[in-house]
Amino acid sequence: MLAEAVKYAAARLHGQGDPHGHLAQQVAIWARHKRHRAAWEPHLARCKALALASARTCPEDARRTALVLGSGLLLDVPLDELSALFQTVVLADMAFVPEVRAKAARLGNVETLEIDLTGRLDRLPGALAGPLPITLTEVGGPTGLAGLAGLAATLPGLDFAYSANLLSQLPLFALDALPPDMEQERQEELAAELVRQHLEGLKALGCPACLVTDVTERGLRQGAVDYEADLLFGVEPGLAGETWVWDMAPDGEAVRGLDVERVVLGVSNVRAATA
Ligand SMILES: C[S@@+](CC[C@H](N)C(=O)[O-])C[C@H]1O[C@@H](n2cnc3c(N)ncnc32)[C@H](O)[C@@H]1O
Repeated sequence: MLAEAVKYAAARLHGQGDPHGHLAQQVAIWARHKRHRAAWEPHLARCKALALASARTCPEDARRTALVLGSGLLLDVPLDELSALFQTVVLADMAFVPEVRAKAARLGNVETLEIDLTGRLDRLPGALAGPLPITLTEVGGPTGLAGLAGLAATLPGLDFAYSANLLSQLPLFALDALPPDMEQERQEELAAELVRQHLEGLKALGCPACLVTDVTERGLRQGAVDYEADLLFGVEPGLAGETWVWDMAPDGEAVRGLDVERVVLGVSNVRAATA
């Protein structure tokens, strides 16, 4: 707990804001990763290997800018390799701890971009003073498609994108920004819309886009499935790829008495993977 508080405070002292709790979540991930480093390693290695293999499919004369969406702590990002392959790498996230900013500065061709990849967090009902809009469309603002396309348009020569374990997280922060008395069904519709928009946004980019996302969570009691939860709010990605299991919270850490694991989908290039 103390180490987490120090880590969080250091980032805040370096000027990192935390309007929606992304920094706090990153610090919690940092702590959990420290506790379960060995259990997480196969998952993280697989994410990095897939992203790198995907990046290497870009022709040598089309390796200008690589964009990493949800770069976080870089646990699942082969940053050194991407930095060597591409002229510029852009890390996009809502928050950056000082170590990530320092690493980006050391590599020289890596930029950090603080951005809300839903384009909506500051505009969702909980963050609005006025009456509640009913759907994301009514909330207005850029759609996920326009949002990612808009971002891509600001990055000259975008030749590769990697969505790094971001997709299932996008709705969670948005749900936190909604008023607690909003109907459950309506909240889930909004969450699903954000998931769909990110997928559509990735498909619409004019470059290879690698996707890694957890899709299902399972709680296991002595090896038997106790519960299973869909992390994508009913959205079926419809993408052919590889799947693996991430041993996320073994030994009852997240849910007492249960080992919690997640099924992860990895897609080398969403533009070529429609199932
Ligand atoms: C589960 S972490 C992904 C792991 C991360 N790639 C790493 O290696 O640490 C999800 C990441 O998505 C970011 N994120 C969540 N919602 C976001 C949003 N609306 N806009 C930008 N980044 C977001 C979080 O800050 C976090 O770093």
